[in-house]
Amino acid sequence: MKLAIYPGSFDPVTFGHMEIISRASKLFDKLIVLVSVNPLKPCSFSIEERKELLRETVQHEGLTNVEVDSYDGLLIDYFTERNADVIVKGLRAISDFEYEFQMAQANRRLCYKAETIFLTSKSEYTYLSSSMVKQIAMFGGDISDFVPEYILDRIVTRLKK
Ligand code: PNS
Repeated sequence: MKLAIYPGSFDPVTFGHMEIISRASKLFDKLIVLVSVNPLKPCSFSIEERKELLRETVQHEGLTNVEVDSYDGLLIDYFTERNADVIVKGLRAISDFEYEFQMAQANRRLCYKAETIFLTSKSEYTYLSSSMVKQIAMFGGDISDFVPEYILDRIVTRLKK
């Protein structure tokens, strides 16, 4: 059984993440979407809120081989604990590349078995990021093109607080 982990901040989940989750779930027997801590990124949603939004999305999309979890340590420790095979990341543009390349190299240095596989984003989502969605919502803009309608109200209400 091939187990993949898709880590990220998911603050909050967007159509861009969902597209990667859906494609990765078809490539591996099981996919864990892992809400992880990025110490360089201040988050607006708590880990529990981010997991809840992801769980609802995964359930709504009928992705039965996808689990949502969180971890507040090193990704590679979780990877080893779960005896995973692959780390999945999404690549939107060349600007993502250097950062993602460094993380993949560092993770492989920490655990030689940790292969990172990159899925390139669908072209219509290459500009999309959680920070952009948050900024638009905070100023009262319409984010319905970026997040699913069944979690839209919750995201908007939470960001307006
Ligand atoms: O969505 P992001 O913020 O770009 O995801 C980055 C994330 C959370 C995957 C990365 O910061 C991470 O792996 N955090 C867990 C802690 C860790 O292992 N850091 C070292 C990475 S080389």
